[in-house]
Amino acid sequence: MRILRTIREVRSAVSEARRDGRTVGLVPTMGAFHEGHLSLMRAARKDTDLVVVSLFVNPTQFAPNEDLSTYPRDEQRDAELAAGEHVDILFAPAPEEIYPEGFATSIHVAGLTDVLDGASRGAHHFDGVATVVTKLFGIVRPDVAFFGQKDAQQVLVVRRVVRDLNLDVRIEACPIAREPDGLAMSSRNVYLDAAARQRAVFLSRALDAAQALHDSGERDADGIRAAAAAVLDEAGIAPEYLELRDAETLAPVADTRRDTLLAVAARVGAARLIDNHLLKGDA
Ligand code: PAF
Repeated sequence: MRILRTIREVRSAVSEARRDGRTVGLVPTMGAFHEGHLSLMRAARKDTDLVVVSLFVNPTQFAPNEDLSTYPRDEQRDAELAAGEHVDILFAPAPEEIYPEGFATSIHVAGLTDVLDGASRGAHHFDGVATVVTKLFGIVRPDVAFFGQKDAQQVLVVRRVVRDLNLDVRIEACPIAREPDGLAMSSRNVYLDAAARQRAVFLSRALDAAQALHDSGERDADGIRAAAAAVLDEAGIAPEYLELRDAETLAPVADTRRDTLLAVAARVGAARLIDNHLLKGDA
């Protein structure tokens, strides 16, 4: 595996692969790898010939009060894990390589970014994500890019950018990786102390309770939400949001007859955690 720092080096490596008729897969990441990231790398390895993983803690998607400075960083460990998944290129640029002096462009996806994490974290968050992901697509020009379904809203935003800007890349969303007790894997789980870790599992339990009710035939969104809210309440977790929304448009829903995203965000101890389930509709 090669660790590359510059756009020029990545472009040259990708062009060479393309000349040989090889397909290119991209896994965009901010590092601090866990099983979720590794499963994306495996999917890329299986589907494409040249696997590029980007490792860049993107400053523009963090608000001033968020954890940019403390976000877990361990490039050496990440590089070893990526090499273990037979990744070809780890692209780990410095911030100035991605945002040189005078950088002035931002991509804003209207509507989809006004709700859930967009409402909770502020509009800058998805503007930062959409802009950096579009840049990574421009740099790597992948045939396929792999994202985790844990960031379900991010997947929808990226798909919309690809559609609206006619970008020639297929987006693959991979299943959420979970700890044995159900907690969704996240780089931010390292912020959980022992007590918070015990409470954190209630996020996935809440979603499981709602899922079970939906699976039993309940379709009323308020009833399903209430089942999840009751479980969070048991653990004293007040969610930032706990919402059912149309799985494609993120419009609010009154029932779950169509595919519905049930999404939750909550602060547990020092960590802000998100999780979601896709409730399959009847159609
Ligand atoms: O999901 C993430 O880790 C980030 O939002 C991404 C897609 C790498 C963009 O910085």
